[in-house]
Amino acid sequence: MTTALVTGATAGIGAAFAHRLARDRHDLVLVARDRDALRRRAAELHDRHGVEVDVLRADLATDDGIAAVEERLADHARPVGLLVNNAGFGLRGRYLKAPVADELRMLKVHCEAVLRLTSAAAVPMQERGRGGVVNVASVAAFLPRGTYGASKAWVVQFTEGAARDLAGSGVRLMALCPGFVRTEFHGRAGMRTDSIPGWMWLDADRVVDAALRDLGRGRTVSIPDLRYRALMGAARLVPRSALGGISSRAGRKYGPKRGGTPDGA
Ligand SMILES: NC(=O)c1ccc[n+]([C@@H]2O[C@H](COP(=O)([O-])OP(=O)(O)OC[C@H]3O[C@@H](n4cnc5c(N)ncnc54)[C@H](OP(=O)(O)O)[C@@H]3O)[C@@H](O)[C@H]2O)c1
Repeated sequence: MTTALVTGATAGIGAAFAHRLARDRHDLVLVARDRDALRRRAAELHDRHGVEVDVLRADLATDDGIAAVEERLADHARPVGLLVNNAGFGLRGRYLKAPVADELRMLKVHCEAVLRLTSAAAVPMQERGRGGVVNVASVAAFLPRGTYGASKAWVVQFTEGAARDLAGSGVRLMALCPGFVRTEFHGRAGMRTDSIPGWMWLDADRVVDAALRDLGRGRTVSIPDLRYRALMGAARLVPRSALGGISSRAGRKYGPKRGGTPDGA
C-alpha cells in the first residue's frame, strides 16, 4: 500500500481521513502543529491498524512549516501516493471584524500551502505515473462568504484547473466540498452553532468515505451528501443578492466566550 500524507490530521476531517486510510492499510505521515496530539494519534493508529505512522510538526501558516512538508513530499526515497490538504480554520466575525493579519494567515494556510504542497506532491507523482491529491474546500466555495468562502473558491478553481492540466498523467486531483461537519472547527473559532439545524450536520467519517469513493470515480469536485448536492443545485437558481443574505447569516453567530463582543449576526 502507498503512503498517505494528511495535513490537519489530529482532529475532525483530517483525523477521519487518517483513520480510514490506516484501516485501508496505508502508511501515514500526519501533519499538524500540536506535537503531543500528533504523537497520540500516530500511536493509536499504529497500535490499532499495524501501519507505519510518521509525524511531522509544521505550522502551515509559516514558510518554514510549508517548506518542511514540501521537502517530505519531494523525498524520492519515501514516496507519497496520496496527499490530503485538509488543515484549515474559520475566523470569528464578519469582514472588518477579523484582523487583516488573521485573514492573511487564512490565505497562507488555505491557498499558499495548498498550492505549494500540491505542486511538491504532483511532480514525483507525475514521474511515477500515479497518485492522488484531495484538497479540502467547502460548500462555502459556492457562496458569498468572506475570505473563508473566497479561499475555498480558490481551492476549487485551482484543483479543477490542475486536474484538467494533469489529465492522462495518472495523477488525480479532487476538491472536497463538505457542508457543516461536526468537528473542532466551530469551537476553535468561537462560533455558536445552535442556529444550525440538525439535518445540516454531516459526520466526518461519512464525508471521508464519500470523498475516497469520488476520488476513485475520477471526480474533480466532490460534494458529500445528497442534501448538500441538492442545496448547491438550488443555490445556482437563487439570485446572488439573495444568496449573499442567507449565506452571510448561516452559522455565523458568535458566543461571547472567546474574547471580543458577540456580533450576534
Ligand atoms: N467542520 C466543518 O463544518 C467544515 C466544513 C467544510 C469544510 N471544512 C474544512 O475542513 C478542513 C478541516 O476542518 P475540520 O472541521 O476538521 O477542523 P478541526 O477539527 O478544527 O481540525 C483542524 C486541523 O487542522 C490543523 N491545523 C489548523 N491550523 C493549522 C496550521 N496552521 N498548520 C498545520 N495544521 C493546522 C489542526 O491541528 P493543530 O491545531 O494541532 O495544528 C487540526 O488537526 C478545513 O480546511 C476546513 O476549512 C470544515
